[in-house]
Amino acid sequence: MKTASISGLCCLGFAIIFLLIAGAALFFLIRGQVQTADDGRVSILLAPKERNLVLGEMRGFLEAVQTMTESMSAGDMKTAAEAARKVGRVDLKDLPPSLVLKLPAEVKALGLDTHRAFAQLARDIDNGLSKEKAFARLGEILNNCTTCHAGYRLDPQIRGQ
Ligand code: HEC
Repeated sequence: MKTASISGLCCLGFAIIFLLIAGAALFFLIRGQVQTADDGRVSILLAPKERNLVLGEMRGFLEAVQTMTESMSAGDMKTAAEAARKVGRVDLKDLPPSLVLKLPAEVKALGLDTHRAFAQLARDIDNGLSKEKAFARLGEILNNCTTCHAGYRLDPQIRGQ
């Protein structure tokens, strides 16, 4: 009888420890690897390679916006659709898992949504979306850019952090 209750307690102990670890893992997965920066934004701490990868992707976004505004102004919707399509492709599984873990859930969601919005815009331009409507949609996408930039920045991860 006594041994049964001890093993019961033991099981409960393991269950509590397991739940605590799972809870902590979930907390860090949602929060990402972050701290508050001196400018009030949330600073995402990344290794140099991960930071380079994100910033390279960002420059790709800006290039797409540049090509799209120039080509749409000139009435060249085909080039605009190609530029949007180029930044429309992304899959979390193509990113290094370490980076996926460090990015806060909101940043991942906003980033994926931005890629998807470009992909959808490319398809809609292919299907004859007017220049005016395409500009309005690009404006909506730019809202994602400014929202994320206002809230987050990237900083180097210092060893042991
Ligand atoms: C989900 C968040 C997020 C979205 C969406 C986003 N960015 Fe960024 N972007 C960042 C962060 C974080 C940085 C780093 C800023 C810093 O450290 O101050 C950055 C940096 C940049 C940079 C600087 C690149 C460099 O080499 O230094 C450019 C350009 C840029 N973003 C363009 C864009 C454009 C254009 C869009 C929209 C089409 C966009 N970004 C959407 C998060 C985002």
